[in-house]
Amino acid sequence: MNIVTMNEQHLDAAYALTQRLHWPHRREDWRQALALGEGLAAVENGELIGTTLYWRWGDYASIGLVIVADEAQGKGIGKQLMQTVLAALEGHQLRLHATEMGKGLYEKLGFVATGKIAQHQSRELAPGERVPPQASQSLRPARREELTALGELESRAHGQRRPTLIAELFANGDRFLVLEEQDQTAGFACLRRFGHGFAIGPIICGDLQQAKVLVSELLAGLEGAFVRIDTDSACGLGDWLATLGMAQVDMPVTMHKGKPWQPQGVRAFGLMSQAMA
Ligand SMILES: CC(C)(COP(=O)(O)OP(=O)(O)OC[C@H]1O[C@@H](n2cnc3c(N)ncnc32)[C@H](O)[C@@H]1OP(=O)(O)O)[C@@H](O)C(=O)NCCC(=O)NCCS
Repeated sequence: MNIVTMNEQHLDAAYALTQRLHWPHRREDWRQALALGEGLAAVENGELIGTTLYWRWGDYASIGLVIVADEAQGKGIGKQLMQTVLAALEGHQLRLHATEMGKGLYEKLGFVATGKIAQHQSRELAPGERVPPQASQSLRPARREELTALGELESRAHGQRRPTLIAELFANGDRFLVLEEQDQTAGFACLRRFGHGFAIGPIICGDLQQAKVLVSELLAGLEGAFVRIDTDSACGLGDWLATLGMAQVDMPVTMHKGKPWQPQGVRAFGLMSQAMA
């Protein structure tokens, strides 16, 4: 077994691994995840048997899509992949979202559970009561010239600096919405295609009411579609999503190695994805 740098040629086999796990990623989701970060491929006899992706978002890094093929599990391959990533990310503060299967491995490598992420989704979004902006608030599409500022705003929520991700969402996402309070930028949220339908995230703003306004606007017109939002279970958005028929279907554990970021005035009410966070 060799661990090599992952490239585009591994993507079909990587996609097949997530298909076997019934994870929703499309080939396109894999392509985007790798294009924004870096990956490792565990290869045996020319076959891909394991993957791990990671994203250096400034001082803070995310790790995800840690997978070992069924028949190769329990032989130390996951551990080796993770140790290789940890060496590559030396000096970074690390964050990941662990499945039940992954948690034990990460604990042994020094990761500590710090919270939970509630995965909410609806196969066919029902029409429901939405939250309109208040008189002091307005919504508008993001503008190219403010992407740097939106990236700065986002980094205050979770410490990660992700200009390439922000640019990608602006270029290829379906909607990139900014919330203003008294004519000042207060938050933003993005809608894009992912998995079985659409995903909303990141959702970055100051409070729950603002998050509901942003999500309400992005949900408009998606009735009947598959929609997913991954939200911090402690931030309160999940209870409201459930009232819209977006049930909680999974709850991975947030884990950190190093120092968790303390949000500065804004927080992430929704993740880009569990992998990229
Ligand atoms: C999680 C996964 C990547 C682990 O890969 P693996 O190659 O089977 O793991 P390893 O054999 O390297 O095990 C590494 C260590 O973790 C431990 N470990 C693995 N799974 C564990 C579990 N569920 N509970 C406790 N410990 C566990 C092993 O005992 C081993 O410890 P040791 O070296 O001290 O004996 C693999 O099970 C997998 O792909 N699962 C499905 C996808 C998934 O859920 N990925 C995690 C995404 S966050």
